[in-house]
Amino acid sequence: MSTPQPKATAPIEMPESFAIQTEGLGKVYGKGANRVEAVKGIDLVVRSGDLTVIMGPSGSGKTTLLTLLGLVDQPTTGRLVLGGRDIYAGTPPDLAHIRNTEIGFVFQTPNLIPFLTAKENVLLPLSFAGVRGKPAEDRVQKLLDYLEIAERRAQHYPNQLSGGEQQRVAVARALANNPRIILADEPTASLDTDRALAVVRLLRRVSQTNGAAVLLVTHDHRLLGEVDEVIEMEDGRIASRRVVGQDGLARSQARSAQPESDG
Ligand SMILES: Nc1ncnc2c1ncn2[C@@H]1O[C@H](COP(=O)(O)OP(=O)(O)OP(=O)(O)O)[C@@H](O)[C@H]1O
Ligand SMILES: [Mg+2]
Repeated sequence: MSTPQPKATAPIEMPESFAIQTEGLGKVYGKGANRVEAVKGIDLVVRSGDLTVIMGPSGSGKTTLLTLLGLVDQPTTGRLVLGGRDIYAGTPPDLAHIRNTEIGFVFQTPNLIPFLTAKENVLLPLSFAGVRGKPAEDRVQKLLDYLEIAERRAQHYPNQLSGGEQQRVAVARALANNPRIILADEPTASLDTDRALAVVRLLRRVSQTNGAAVLLVTHDHRLLGEVDEVIEMEDGRIASRRVVGQDGLARSQARSAQPESDG
């Protein structure tokens, strides 16, 4: 039996404000007795400027979904449109370039490069994007300051940092390039309440001021006051999607009144 391939179907509407759009997105790992259908036919739209949370039990497919959206892994089925580009239809675009310049990914484990200092880890995506010298230094310093990574700490290597410090450095690294899409997999898991809120408020600010689309996986209900929408995943599917927060409420009302408008 052959593995189903991602296939192109009829064109779908792709407004500019839809940063992420999926149709029937699915991922199967393994074969035979080891086959796991981790993500099952996800239809999703995340607009520029939205901060959306994904919740759901362990094993429900949250990380898998993020890796598909972040071009870290390929879907088995379905369609993925990022910023108007139908990624797996026709000639594939330069995925590494899109990943490096348009997507900020915070992995579930910080994944910092062990032989670079904290600061160098944050500088790296900027250097990939050709930003060097003072502009890069200034940008990194601003992020490190906001995330309370002291100058002295910034000179340390990942294995000299606490789990929470590594997580905050990973957030700074993901934001360094001003990405249009930010995918953060439990970035606040080892942070105290104040620091967790600071991270989410930073993501919120980035979504509002830069128009970035932010998807944040978390189990932390304390953070929900800061977000627009909550998606609940269950067994590889989206079980529910609800609008939260005052902002979100107003936006959802505007949307149902004027489905074509994005404010
Ligand atoms: N590389 C892989 N190979 C095989 N199976 C995998 C792989 N990655 C994930 N899975 C399986 O896919 C399912 C979804 O996993 P995923 O990591 O997406 O869940 P999750 O919702 O992120 O869970 P958690 O909250 O524990 O991080 C699980 O059954 C998992 O065992
Ligand atoms: Mg996970």
